[in-house]
Amino acid sequence: ATTIIEPFRIKSVEPLRFTTKDQRAGILAEAFYNPFMIRADDVLIDLLTDSGTSAMSSRQWAAMMEGDESYAGSKSFYRFEAAVKKITGMKNIIPTHQGRASEKILFTITGGPGKYFLSNTLFDTTRANIEFSGAEGIDLLTEEARHPAAIAPFKGNIDLVALEETIREKGAARIAMCIITITNNSGGGQPVSMENIRAAGRICKQYGILFFIDACRFAENCYFIKQREEGYAAKTVGEIAGELFSYADGCTMSAKKDAFANIGGFLALNDDDLTRECRNLLVITEGFPTYGGLAGRDLEAIAVGLEEIMDEHYLQYRIRSMEYIGEKLEVEGIPFIKPVGGHAVYLDAKAFLPQVPSHQYPGLSLSNALYMEGGIRSVEIGSLMFGKYAEDGSLVPAPMELVRLAIPRRVYTQSHIDYVAEIIIDVFKKRDELNGYTIVYEAPLLRHFTAKLKPV
Ligand code: F0G
Repeated sequence: ATTIIEPFRIKSVEPLRFTTKDQRAGILAEAFYNPFMIRADDVLIDLLTDSGTSAMSSRQWAAMMEGDESYAGSKSFYRFEAAVKKITGMKNIIPTHQGRASEKILFTITGGPGKYFLSNTLFDTTRANIEFSGAEGIDLLTEEARHPAAIAPFKGNIDLVALEETIREKGAARIAMCIITITNNSGGGQPVSMENIRAAGRICKQYGILFFIDACRFAENCYFIKQREEGYAAKTVGEIAGELFSYADGCTMSAKKDAFANIGGFLALNDDDLTRECRNLLVITEGFPTYGGLAGRDLEAIAVGLEEIMDEHYLQYRIRSMEYIGEKLEVEGIPFIKPVGGHAVYLDAKAFLPQVPSHQYPGLSLSNALYMEGGIRSVEIGSLMFGKYAEDGSLVPAPMELVRLAIPRRVYTQSHIDYVAEIIIDVFKKRDELNGYTIVYEAPLLRHFTAKLKPV
C-alpha cells in the first residue's frame, strides 16, 4: 500500500463546536476583525498555531503522573536534561517556561543598544525580544526565498555572502550573534540545509561571533535534510540533529512545537560563563535552575515528547500531510509558498488578493474570509505582524503578505484537512469580493496580538 496513515490511533476526543455564518459575522465584529481576539470555542478548525496545541501521547500523560515536583534537584529535571543533551549534545541545559523566555534571558545578556542579531528570519517574539533589549535584528534571506512560487529544497537558508558582508560592514564586535531559525517559520516553514548551517557556523567562528539555532522545529528540519540533501538519506534523524547542533554554540527552543508539549522551552549552550550569567537571570525571572518556570510534570512531558518527535514514521506522516494540502491547492491554481513547509501551509495573500494593498492588510482580509466561510482560524504573517512606520507615518510593508495555516501535531485527521482545502477553494472563487482593513488601535510592540481593526 502507498497510503501514508496517521501513525497513531485516538483514545480521547474533544468535540468541535459548529457556528453559522451569521454567528461568525457577529463574532468577527466583536473581535475587532482580529482572529487573535476570537474565543477558541467559536472556532471550528483552529490553525492559528502549531504551538502548544499538539495532542500528547498516552506515554506523555503517564510520564506526567511521575513528575517530581521537588523545588531543587527534581528527578524530572535530570530526565529532561538527559533527553535534551542526547539530541543537542550541548553541555548546559536551562529549562524555561517557553521559547521567548529563553530569548529574553539570552538577549538581555548578549544584546543591548548598538548590537546586531543576524538571522535567516527572526520570528515575531524573537525580533521583539531583540528590539526590546535595544539591539537590532537583521534578516538575511536568500533571493530564491523571496519568491513564493519558486521551488527550491532549502528556502530557509541564510544568505552567506550577505552574512559575511554584514559582519564586515557593522564590525564583528557589534554582532551579538547569528541565530538561524529552523525551520524558517516566518518565511514559509522552509528548511535550512546542513551545508548552510555548517558554512554559517564556520563564518561565525572565523569572526569570533556566537552562533545559535532557534530550534523550535528542528526535527521537521532534520527530516527535510534526510529527504532532500545529498548524503543524509541513510542517516537517522537523531544523527542528523547531532551533526546540526554540533556546529552551534547553543540553541533556544520552544518545546511547544517539536516536543509535543503544551508549555515549556529551554536554552542549551556550551559556554560556561554565558551559562552562569543566564542562570543568574533565570533565577530572578523564571525559577530555580532545575525547573526554570515549569512544573516537574511539564519536564516529563517534554522529555518523552523529544523522544517521540524523532520517530520517522511520525515525521514522514507529518511532512506528507502538508504536501497533501499543497497538492489540493495546486490543482486549483491557488497561490501559496512552494514547496509547502514542515508545520504549515502559507497562502500568498498578495497574489490571492491583488486588489487589497499592503496598508489594508491583504493577509488579514484572507484570514478573516476563511473564518467567515468555514470557521477556520489562521494567522496573518505580513504587514500587520511585521509592518513598521516610516518617519512620515506611512507603512513600511513586510516583504511578504502571508496567511499561515499551521497544523497542530497529531490533532486533526485527513477529513479535517480535506474540509480546510475545500474552504480555501471556496474563498478563492469569491476572492474578488474581499476588501481590506484599517487599524483603529495598536500596541507599540507585537501589535498583531491585540490590534483592533475595521473593514475599509
Ligand atoms: N521561535 C520561533 C521560530 C517560533 O515559531 C516561536 C513561536 C518562538 C521562537 C517563541 O516560542 O511561543 O514558546 O515563546 N512561535 C509560535 C507560532 C507562537 O505560532 O509560530 P514560544
